[in-house]
Amino acid sequence: MDTAKTLRRRLSLRHFLGCAGTLAASLLLLSPAHAGGSAEAGQARAIVCAACHGVDGNSFNPEWPSLAGQNENYLIKAMQSFKDGSRQNVLMNAQAAALTDQDMQDLAAWYASQKLAGKTADPALVSSGERLFRGGNKTSGVPACGACHGPAGQGNTAAGWPAIAGQHATYSSNQLLAYRSKQRATDGDSQMMRIVTARLTDEEIQAVAAYAQGLHP
Ligand code: HEC
Ligand code: HEC
Repeated sequence: MDTAKTLRRRLSLRHFLGCAGTLAASLLLLSPAHAGGSAEAGQARAIVCAACHGVDGNSFNPEWPSLAGQNENYLIKAMQSFKDGSRQNVLMNAQAAALTDQDMQDLAAWYASQKLAGKTADPALVSSGERLFRGGNKTSGVPACGACHGPAGQGNTAAGWPAIAGQHATYSSNQLLAYRSKQRATDGDSQMMRIVTARLTDEEIQAVAAYAQGLHP
């Protein structure tokens, strides 16, 4: 079977929905046993992070992600992947190198307890972004983003799948491009985000990232 055919099969909506339970279960096994951090200790540790992520986890630079309100398991996993080098970013690899497991749990508890500031979506992009987010693209075989990220983009706390609601559109579209080029490969053996983005056009990426920015979790 040629690669295009294999991809097409793996991309079918049914496949994604059918696997969602299995994927959630396997990711649960991979995620840290239990997030047992102290938000108070995390707040103190976060002083060095504030320059880029804001004092309360709301970043002001659209290329730097807001962390406020993100789920703890995802935050911990993200810090671990910067530390072990499986996720590459000049600014973050240096930051994560110094973090212990306890630091990560404390920081995650702190950011998860903070409130994400609401944002608006680019009105020119919102309706096409919403269509893709809710219904996917049946022609190209892209599944609905909401199937995994939640109908309001709030993420899946138990599985440690990230919230994307209210995130800077610039950051989100950069991540989608990074998955598409396989530069970001932190989505594990299932490759779910690499497979999803392989079928997204640049226009769809811009639109869905803009729509997600305007969602209020
Ligand atoms: C010099 C700026 C800078 C500092 C300081 C910094 N970060 Fe980051 N952080 C970034 C950038 C830029 C990214 C996005 C990297 C990418 O594009 O993959 C990021 C990404 C992250 C993410 C992943 C978010 C997501 O949605 O996947 C986490 C978690 C994180 N940082 C935590 C921290 C913590 C905790 C600290 C302090 C110990 C910290 N950062 C300090 C710039 C910074
Ligand atoms: C099958 C489930 C699934 C589907 C469908 C899915 N995602 Fe994801 N997405 C994930 C998981 C799991 C991650 C985290 C993977 C990792 O740790 O790298 C993720 C990560 C992301 C990120 C990076 C978040 C961050 O903070 O860095 C963005 C942005 C994103 N997805 C957007 C989308 C969009 C837009 C769609 C629809 C076009 C979509 N996703 C469809 C499961 C999914």
